[in-house]
Amino acid sequence: MGADLKSVIVVGLQWGDEGKGKIVDLLSVEADVVVRFQGGNNAGHTLVVNGEQTVLHLIPSGALHADTTCVIGGGVVVDPGALVAELEALHARGHLDDPTRLRIAQECHLILPYHKAIDQARERRRGKGKIGTTGRGIGPAYEDKAARIGLRMVDLCDESIFRERLRNNVEEKNAYLEAMLGESVLDYDAMVDELVGHGRALAPYVCDTSRYLYDELRAGHKVLFEGAQGIMLDVDHGTYPFVTSSNTGAGAVTSGAGVPPTLLRSVVGITKAYTTRVGSGPFPTELSDDIGDRLRSEGGEFGATTGRPRRCGWFDAMVLRKAVRTSGVGALALTKLDVLSGLDPIRVCVGYRLDGRLIDDMPASAADLERCEPVYEDHEGWDADVSGSTSLEQMPAATRRYIARLEELAEVPVAIVSVGPARDQTVTVLPAFD
Ligand code: GDP
Ligand code: IMO
Ligand code: MG
Repeated sequence: MGADLKSVIVVGLQWGDEGKGKIVDLLSVEADVVVRFQGGNNAGHTLVVNGEQTVLHLIPSGALHADTTCVIGGGVVVDPGALVAELEALHARGHLDDPTRLRIAQECHLILPYHKAIDQARERRRGKGKIGTTGRGIGPAYEDKAARIGLRMVDLCDESIFRERLRNNVEEKNAYLEAMLGESVLDYDAMVDELVGHGRALAPYVCDTSRYLYDELRAGHKVLFEGAQGIMLDVDHGTYPFVTSSNTGAGAVTSGAGVPPTLLRSVVGITKAYTTRVGSGPFPTELSDDIGDRLRSEGGEFGATTGRPRRCGWFDAMVLRKAVRTSGVGALALTKLDVLSGLDPIRVCVGYRLDGRLIDDMPASAADLERCEPVYEDHEGWDADVSGSTSLEQMPAATRRYIARLEELAEVPVAIVSVGPARDQTVTVLPAFD
């Protein structure tokens, strides 16, 4: 059976915003189905097609392709209002107008108003020690899922069950908001009807997506799994506690999409040619100087969800190697190479020094990582604008050497090189669906 399988998992290898939206949109030309399997509308995936920019938060980045079915798997936490708004915006532009092209898992947990209130209140109270969350209620929603008190899409589709369970939960959350966080309470009556309305709008799309994906994969159809965030934000393998609340690596596909590992094949990892991070937490190669500012302005490094300026720094091969290893990445998509034009030298972190000792893996403790000093190797830069390159041969020799060095450090080949935000600003070296 293995030989007929045509699935590709696409994951971010850094702290998010690697260009997953662009690469997934590009690969969706070939895909029959594109699936989100974790995270929520903390994600902001940007697609630029014919000069028009679309930012998707919950709907998979295959949405602009008329023949691709989009699936929101059960591991995704869904804010019903945000999903309805995103869907309406796509409908208004003539996308996803065939209702069979969107399928939402019955198991998706809901992000409800109290999750957002708790997320934001906790961040305010943490002050300087804040995580820098997106404020979308992601953490509190996953907490309720693990605590077995969450409300799911299947509940939202049953009005009487939903009304009753929501009432109980609001009571409990109000007690917490008021007593523990010193916040004002939320009004059940003010939220319930709107949510029920969203439930009616979404119900036609809700189904058994695990079964659907099983059938699609067994039929030999091409299924693309679209990760959100990046591996350094993984709740287990990232820079805890400065992480998101879901597993972001390739392993999360099995639980998050309800697909067995035996039906999965290749993993494409996306990495920028440098590094960025939004929110707090350790970032060894961060540049708080002119070069960091230049990467931010040239790379347009401002959050697609919150608009916050992204922290910028040099490429970190320690991050890359851990991400490749934990997700079984078989090929890389290297993005934003164009942003490095004009910088010389270009530095790459190839190790850390922790308390004077050289280490070649990432420490588990955020405090230790905070103390790590990067060990750099310098690469010759290039002046030429590579944003119009359509092949590696057209690029300066120094650019090709930089790509080759990253491949060597990752111990996997680069399959795709992205040199600009648009679909056609891409050099495909190897096919993703083989
Ligand atoms: P995602 O969350 O991984 O989908 O990434 P985001 O959409 O949050 O951030 C990536 C940003 O870089 C978006 O504004 C993209 O349009 C843009 N982008 C993607 N690839 C390239 C590239 O190769 N070069 C440049 N200059 N911009 C890119
Ligand atoms: P995409 O899919 C970059 C970060 C937040 C914060 C931490 C926890 O666009 O790459 P959360 O709201 O999830 O509880 O915030 O995770 N974060 C992201 N950073 N890209 C993302 O998504 C992110 N999603 C969450 O900034 O540091
Ligand atoms: Mg993003």
